[in-house]
Amino acid sequence: GATLADSHDDFLHCLSLHSADSASISKVIFTQSNSSYLPILDVSIQNLRVSTSATPKPFVIVTPLQTSHIQTTIYCSKTHKLEIRIRSGGHDFEGLSYVSEVPFIILDLVNFRSIEVDTKNKVAWVESGATIGELYYRIVEKSKTLAFPAGVCHTIGVGGHFSGGGYGILMRKYGLAADHVIDAHLIDVNGRILDRKSMGEDLFWAIRGGGGNTFGVVLAWKVKLVPVPQVVTVFTVNKTLEQNATKILHRWQHIGHKLPDDLFTDVTITKVNSSQVGKKTIQAAFKALYLGGIDELIPLIQDRFPELGLVKQDCIEMSWVESVLYFGGVSRERLDILLDRNALPKQTFKAKSDYVKEPIPESGLEGIWEKFFEKEAEIAFMMMVAFGGKMDEIPEAALPYPHRAGNLYQASYLVAWSKEENAESQKYISWIRRLYSYMTTYVSKSPREAYFNYRDLDIGTNNVGYTSYAQASIWGLKYFKNNFNRLVHVKTMVDPENFFKNEQSIPPLSSSP
Ligand code: FDA
Repeated sequence: GATLADSHDDFLHCLSLHSADSASISKVIFTQSNSSYLPILDVSIQNLRVSTSATPKPFVIVTPLQTSHIQTTIYCSKTHKLEIRIRSGGHDFEGLSYVSEVPFIILDLVNFRSIEVDTKNKVAWVESGATIGELYYRIVEKSKTLAFPAGVCHTIGVGGHFSGGGYGILMRKYGLAADHVIDAHLIDVNGRILDRKSMGEDLFWAIRGGGGNTFGVVLAWKVKLVPVPQVVTVFTVNKTLEQNATKILHRWQHIGHKLPDDLFTDVTITKVNSSQVGKKTIQAAFKALYLGGIDELIPLIQDRFPELGLVKQDCIEMSWVESVLYFGGVSRERLDILLDRNALPKQTFKAKSDYVKEPIPESGLEGIWEKFFEKEAEIAFMMMVAFGGKMDEIPEAALPYPHRAGNLYQASYLVAWSKEENAESQKYISWIRRLYSYMTTYVSKSPREAYFNYRDLDIGTNNVGYTSYAQASIWGLKYFKNNFNRLVHVKTMVDPENFFKNEQSIPPLSSSP
């Protein structure tokens, strides 16, 4: 209506009026009438489920080139009561970086992506709009024995990933991406540019895992790099039900978290067509990264996990960065694929996560297989990632991410379907909810924990437009356990009016119920 169009114009007018250099800001504002609007909106969206014609679209997309553009955008959004969605890599499972039910704009940090690697001091500054693949590439360009412990999918954005934790194949050795952040630059609700010193330790704690779009716009992160050997070893061993998958997986649950820190393992469960048995079966793919050579790995597995039947032919030696591509299922031929932000196919999916503290009995695993045998689950997997190692040593309150000691593994579930099938999406979503419901008996309780970066709006959301501590605790305690209260305290200090918000942002205490 007229009022919306007016406020839209007022907002644009505000941007040019309050910009130090209105010519420069006009180049980074994309309205719906601009032919670049849709390509810019769509480019980093990973989950096509939240990118349909019915999905609400932003008034404007701003792709700032300098900090003043961000300051002006915050100021004008506040003045004209538009919600801001901050986007870095666009990988949010529920699309919260680019979708909102209320009038909103997107602040897209795609141009904030410089990376400076200092191998002498083993640190790097990386801007939020860079991908983790770009960070990895810039590290290995300078050093073959330095690495960074973050995710496997290289197109993930640094901004969302670091602000929600960020785990990957170096987690058992070094912990999370957030555990390695030593400084950051942030623009707060008042447009102030803060660093670790000026933001103070509470806010600096909160942005390392407490979630993006709550405390301000994180511009850049200073991270500590970690040492890795020049040669690492990976393997994948597939076992079907006919090859004893249930027993071997049952055994893995007892040992995955106790293996040496240098050995990371995960297991992916899928339903496959087995030519051997001529029918559908369940396959457990056991994957590993060992920070050392084959000759040490084989005897280690034979001693600790002989049930797997690992042989030398299963193992491949490579560099650490190649192992990231191996785990990501990407060709290792050209490392510059790490710079390709569109290297991975987009999917239409729904995912959920859990933490497992007691081994699931074989009968319990068989119940999972039954869920996979249900017709709906054509494209579906469950992934189990062994914890332990460094994760056991970091106290629960060190950072907002609380899932540390006591977890055998993280479980996650994903179901995907083709975009054409979107009309039937509910069928797939109900399937994953049934699987999640079945898992209740076997996973963490009170609260049933979930990984913030595997965003899941099923576990609870804020109300649209306002929220309360009680409402937010429903999802907040699951993601953050007791750290939730400290996050609320920080939010109350730095953004008492709750300007930066989304369906799962931390509310300030003052919010009216
Ligand atoms: P996106 O831009 O969508 O932002 C996510 C959230 O952070 C939004 O709420 C957004 O507003 C906010 N935000 C983003 N930038 C911000 C900034 N600069 N300042 C303040 N707030 C900001 N995770 C993991 O730990 N290990 C893994 O291996 C994987 N693998 C993986 C594979 C695939 C295919 C997907 C789609 C996702 C993963 N993830 C993952 C999950 C991933 O860590 C999570 O989605 C991150 O939040 C993505 O960060 P982006 O910047 O890409 O997201």
